[in-house]
Amino acid sequence: MTTLDIDFVRAQFPAFGEPSLQGQAFFENAGGSYTCAPVIDRLTRYYHQRKVQPYSAYEASRLAGAEMDEARTRLAAMLGVETDELSFGPSTTQNTYVLAQAFRQHLRPGDAIVVTNQDHEANSGPWRRLAADGIEIREWQMDPETGHLDLAGLEALLDDTVRLVAFPHCSNVVGEVNDVAAICAMARAAGAWTCVDGVSYAPHGFADVAALGADIYLFSAYKTYGPHQGLMVIRRDLGMALPNQGHFFNEASLYKRFTPAGPDHAQIAASAGMADYIEALSAHHGGPASGAAAARFAHDLMRGAELALLAPLLDYLSSKNSVRLIGGAAAQNRAPTVAMALQAPGEDVAERLAPLGIMAGGGDFYAVRALRGLGVDPDHGVLRVSFTHYTHADEVDRLITALDQVL
Ligand SMILES: Cc1ncc(COP(=O)(O)O)c(C=O)c1O
Repeated sequence: MTTLDIDFVRAQFPAFGEPSLQGQAFFENAGGSYTCAPVIDRLTRYYHQRKVQPYSAYEASRLAGAEMDEARTRLAAMLGVETDELSFGPSTTQNTYVLAQAFRQHLRPGDAIVVTNQDHEANSGPWRRLAADGIEIREWQMDPETGHLDLAGLEALLDDTVRLVAFPHCSNVVGEVNDVAAICAMARAAGAWTCVDGVSYAPHGFADVAALGADIYLFSAYKTYGPHQGLMVIRRDLGMALPNQGHFFNEASLYKRFTPAGPDHAQIAASAGMADYIEALSAHHGGPASGAAAARFAHDLMRGAELALLAPLLDYLSSKNSVRLIGGAAAQNRAPTVAMALQAPGEDVAERLAPLGIMAGGGDFYAVRALRGLGVDPDHGVLRVSFTHYTHADEVDRLITALDQVL
């Protein structure tokens, strides 16, 4: 396995060279990651050189449109889908809201949707609200101790009235990576579509959405080294079957059907910088130079680096009697998103970490149902420390030392 060149990686993120951030170890990555240089450069270039209405014949406009298309083409390829199966919206929450409107028109009273109590509210509330239209909502519940979603639990909920199963690739508080391929296969066999919230997973590597078998796959670029956009894959069969939510004259264009808002041109264009970064990361480590192969290589590289840092952190936390670690203690099947319930409210502990140079967050992280499902009062909340491949081993050491002081 190739070892991650951490100096190369950090050189791609201006935040690590930023004087005002020196001495601060960043552990709130699941809230929003640092932005990679190619994204910032493209955003700056767009505003300087191309900030005009895109897709006209004059040069600035042509370049603006071409760069927006480039972002969709390259990112779709990395996700293993067709270019027009990927669209951009203001955020994942807004994207699920629009999708839920489409399903509201498409489904009939008596149809059912399976949701989980492990999800962030973005992939839960919009679906649950369809109960007001006569849609039956079935909740796939986690194990209240471990936060694990058991496939047998889903199987018991599926029958021929279920039209959609909405679940996370990885919860933003439990951290366990769910077996998306198995869940999608089970849902499909029962005749249901799937909507996968990939927000907490994508920063740790782009998924091959086609291989997972998801009908909808969502994530947020601002947590994945990019600008503040929500990326939404909708596979063609489903996207063309659902009623169009965009302007009527755009209905034949799959990527415009679920984006009723005028898109943020500059941020879409700048999203191509995410592909630049992933490709540079792969190439620098001797991997493929472009496309899906580069994305798969970068995924495994990131994952390997993260696991090496995650294991000691989980070992440390498991050894503390005062800590209730949320999710499993084994690094292997979880993302480096580590929540813990403590005697003191999560926000208070995060506040105590700040003067020690640890940037972390506390609270419910909009996973209110998940915390309730785990028996944690959302008002008390959890402390969450989350990192990515760009985190240095020294920073994890500092985190452990700081936790030792405040716990
Ligand atoms: C797992 C998960 N899903 C969805 C969201 C919502 O994403 P957005 O802020 O783009 O609406 C978040 C944000 O924290 C999240 O962590």
